[in-house]
Formats: sequence, structure tokens, C-alpha cells
Amino acid sequence: MSQSTISTSESSQTGPQPRRMHHTKMPTLVFELSEEVDRYVAGQIAALIRQKQANGEKPVLGLATGSTPIGVYRELIRLHEEEGLDFSNVITFNLDEYWPMQPDSIHSYHRFMWENLFHHINIPKENVNIPDGTVKLSKVEEWCDAYERKIQEAGGLDLQLLGIGRTGHIGFNEPGSSRNSTTRLVTLDPKTRKDAAGEFYGEENVPMQAVTMGVHTIMNARQVIMLALGEHKAKIVRTAVEDEVSEQIPSTYLQKHPNSIFVIDAAAASRLTAVRIPWMAGLVEWTPALVKKAVIWLSQRVKKPLLKLEEADFMENHLINLLRHCDKSCEAIVHEVFMEMQNGICTRPGGDKPITAICFSPHPDDDVISMGGTLITLADQGHDMHIAYMTSGNIAVFDEDASRHAKFVNQFLEMFKLDSDNTSKMHEKLLNDLVVKKPGEPDSPEIQAVKGLIRKTEAAAGAIRAGVPESKLHFLDMPFYQTGDVKKKPIGEDDVTIVANLLRELKPDQIYVAGDLSDPHGTHRVCAQAIIRALDVVKAEGVEPEVWLYRGAWEEYEPHEIERAVPLSPAVVHRKRSAIFAHESQKDQALFPGSDEREFWVRAEDRTKNTARVYDDLGLPEFFALEGFVQYRGQL
Ligand code: PGA
Repeated sequence: MSQSTISTSESSQTGPQPRRMHHTKMPTLVFELSEEVDRYVAGQIAALIRQKQANGEKPVLGLATGSTPIGVYRELIRLHEEEGLDFSNVITFNLDEYWPMQPDSIHSYHRFMWENLFHHINIPKENVNIPDGTVKLSKVEEWCDAYERKIQEAGGLDLQLLGIGRTGHIGFNEPGSSRNSTTRLVTLDPKTRKDAAGEFYGEENVPMQAVTMGVHTIMNARQVIMLALGEHKAKIVRTAVEDEVSEQIPSTYLQKHPNSIFVIDAAAASRLTAVRIPWMAGLVEWTPALVKKAVIWLSQRVKKPLLKLEEADFMENHLINLLRHCDKSCEAIVHEVFMEMQNGICTRPGGDKPITAICFSPHPDDDVISMGGTLITLADQGHDMHIAYMTSGNIAVFDEDASRHAKFVNQFLEMFKLDSDNTSKMHEKLLNDLVVKKPGEPDSPEIQAVKGLIRKTEAAAGAIRAGVPESKLHFLDMPFYQTGDVKKKPIGEDDVTIVANLLRELKPDQIYVAGDLSDPHGTHRVCAQAIIRALDVVKAEGVEPEVWLYRGAWEEYEPHEIERAVPLSPAVVHRKRSAIFAHESQKDQALFPGSDEREFWVRAEDRTKNTARVYDDLGLPEFFALEGFVQYRGQL
């Protein structure tokens, strides 16, 4: 298929049309929502299957695992069930598998593929090919050569689906992989193992090696669709499509593929030049939001406070069109942006009259880490401040902490002669559960409950330090999270109902929601979706709070995005720190720290102090620290 084939089928497919990005070295299509990406890509795969079948040929698909393609597989299953998409003569080859790895392990890509796709479609078992994680070391090379031969004997790959890792890997072709590499045993990059640490309950449980198709194998596919979803992929997406081809970023090899496209959602596109600084990539439509973004960018670029910007700065930095468009003096444009930023600074986020507000915290510590200062301010200013903890966070507690708490309870009961046969049996069971659990396996339901309780009591301690009493805490324990595993269920009606009921009960004037756009299955994003759906339900009943979005532990909003900045005094920052310290199980070392080595309280302080510095540099008042918020207006 040629490039033009892609664009023809793209426009013939119904549904939302993507934006085609400029200034990228490979065709890049951006859809607003991840579900639109899923539908589009599944549609492309379905079209290919039908076309090959119409010609009496067997479609040969190269498939990928990971969180990214799950939605595509869901849509393919729907197409099979509802529209009769036939997989009976489809042949598949998967990209990779950890090594060593048993196929029935919860971490195996064999298991992943059967659970997420093959069990739900009519593909014959013998048509499925997945690298074998059980082959002996001495036989791996032979096995890999046979895998290559099998792909060729099937007629080569018609279409290869790819995700992209933070290292820029495709399959498990890590930095340094040669363009000529074929299927082989490789060593995983430390960054890749860190990213997989969550699923394996610790980096030490992630295998060191994997069997993967090579770059050459992938490049030989007649068509390649690379996918990326979520803002955590934005940086590597930009590198993959804007930087030069380099063996250090294997995904850049795709720039040289004659028929490859990158299909991404808006969150993953956020760092592309055409999105971040579109005036550098060509003509743009100037909206008030874009004018604000450009003026702040200019101020930072020329290192001058807003009110010191001059016409020459605009002319010398590709912003002459902005001046033309606004048809106002440079001073007037800059003054408007300055005033908008200034007016967003808000020392009384709840206003002057007492209101009811809810902070929705996806995990039990996001409240204090991400908006602890505002929480303290709202509580201190006499508002009826509630916190809703949406999930138990029970997968993020170390076994050692669970066992220490179980021992404490046991010794407490013994000390006061409250122990019984039942309590000592339970104690023994808990300790035994921890001992027999294999590394990387989920906990028993009882241990999950203990871990959830640890986080619940920590959340209460943190909230009290922030000025919110226990009577105003709501532990929602949303069902989508209750798998005991890192993989979560999709959001369901029961999740939405729980949130809607709380909104009905409290009738808040304001709510605070974590507005992160991590991958579509990420807990923060799923929680936000549940709240948005619940808001739709209760709107008809007259419950329509102001909705403010805050960022999770990782990053702050960009200054042009911030609509409300709440100043934190040194005393408030100190109290916020102490509230974060109450989360002892996450202190010093967290089970899921992400890619950032800093402790949560350090990240929180660096981030709020950095926002204050940014405001100061723009020539706005100098604060000790600032927390930023964006108002929700129908789109995350
Ligand atoms: P992810 O992984 O889909 O889980 O983000 C993609 C990859 O590492 O290739």
C-alpha cells in the first residue's frame, strides 16, 4: 500500500477526522480522544482484513502488547461481534515477549494477547504466533531464526501495529538497536524496566531480557501503524517524529518506512512543535488562548518580564502575525495578558461566603501532594471542605509495612488480652500469605484489605493535618480499581453512581478534580472520567458545581494554562509538607515512584516554588509558592 492509500482510507472512514500534523518527519495523525484513535486504527486493520479476504488472501498482522493497544483490541472485538469481522484466516505474529517467561504468568504477553483479544475472536489457535519466553538459552537463536522464516513463509507482515516506549523503543528494540537487527534475545533498558516496575510490583521482579522482532523485521512490514496515547508519551513522540534518525531512538527508523503513520491522541501530541509553538510551524488561527500562550512564551524566550516586551521582540521572534491579527499596540496586547494572569491570582479560592467543596483524590495522597496548600487555605477560611478518596491505593504498599501492621494489631490484642483463636489464626494467615506470594504476584484479598486500611488511616492523618476532619472524608473504593492487580477494569455505571451519589448528598459549590491525561487506563484519567460522567447525571437535578482541575504529582500546568493560582505562605507550605509526611507508606521510597527519583514532598515543593518563580519572572508579584488550577469547561 502507498502513502496515498492511507490518506484515502483515512477520509473514507466515518467518525471524527484527525488533524494531520505539519513539521513532522513521518505522517502523524492526531485525534482529540484516545477512543477516536482506537476506532480509527481498528478500522484500518478491519479494512485491510476485508480487502485481503476479498482477494482470497490471508491477512498477516504484526501485533503489539502494553497498555496502548488495549482499546484497539476492544474495538476489533466489537467489530467481530457486531459487524461480523472474520478472523478465521488471519495470521498474527506478536512483537515480543519477556524472557524467561511462562505463558500462563500474569506478566506474559501470551496471556495478555489471549485475554485482551484472541479469546474473544474466531482466530484459530494455530494462526497465532508469539515469541516464546520458555526457550532454553542455547536454543534461543535457532528459535528466533525460525520465527523470521515463519513470517516470510506467511507472506510477510501486511501491517505491523506498534507502541512506543519512553526510551523510543519499538518492540523491545532498545537504544542502540541496529537497523539490520532481526528477531533476537535482547537486554532491556533500565528505563523500560522502571516503567514496567509497577506491573511487576517492583523493578527487581522485571525480567532483564526479552525476545523481540528486530528493526529489520518491523521495517519489512508493508504498512506500520505506530500508536501513542497520553501526555507521558508526549516527549518521546516529539523526538520520534521531529528529530533525525538515530540508532539511539529506534522509533526514528520509521521515518524511512515508505508506508508508516503515527496515530496519537491530543495529550501525546502536546509537545509537537506544531502544537506547542504553532507560530513557528506556519500560519495559525489566533485565538485569545493562543495569544496568551505566545506572549508568555515570548517573555520567557527573551527573558524579559511581560510589561517590558517591545514590538521588536515580537518582530524578531516570529510573532509579527500576532501583532497584525490583534490590530492593537504591542503594549495593549501584553497588558491584557498581564492582567489576565494577575486576576487569576486568588488568595480566597472559595470566595467570601462559606461554600461546600470536594477535593476528589484518585489515590489517598493526591489531595495533599497536589493541592494541599489550597486544601489548607479553604479549610482555614471556614469552608465546608470534604475529600473523596476514589481508590484504596492498596497495590502501592510494601509487604513489609503490611506485616508490621499485622504484628502490631496482634501484639496489641495480646497486650490487652483481647486476642482469641480467630485473631491469632488471622494473624498467621496474613503472615503466611506474604511468605507464599511469589515475586510479582498480586496479594491475597486479606492482605489487600490490610494495605487499603494502612492507606486509609494515613489519608485521615494527612487530612486532619490539612484541617479537614475525619467526618468529612469519603472513601469511595471505586469498583474499577478493585482487581488487586495493576491492570484495572474499565469504568462502569457502578463507579459513576458512587460519585453521583456523593455529589447529590453534598451538593458542592466547587469540586477539585485531578486533570491528568496519562494513558487512557491510568487511574487519574479514569477517575476524572467517572466524575465528568457523574456531573452529567446530576446536572439535570440542579447540582452544577464549579469544576477546577489540578495536576497530579508529576507536573504543573504551563503558565498560559493556569487560570487560578493560589499563593502559599511558608507556613502553609510547612503544613502541607507535614500532611504529606502522614503518608508513611509512601515516604522515603514509594512502590510506584514513576520516573522521578525525588520524594513526593520534594516534588510538591519544587513544583509550587517553581510556579512562583515563573510568575516572578513574568513580572507578576513574587510569592513563596503557588498552586495552579484550570477550570473545566467540558473537555479534559
Ligand atoms: P505501553 O508500552 O503501551 O504500555 O505504554 C509501549 C511500549 O513500551 O512499547
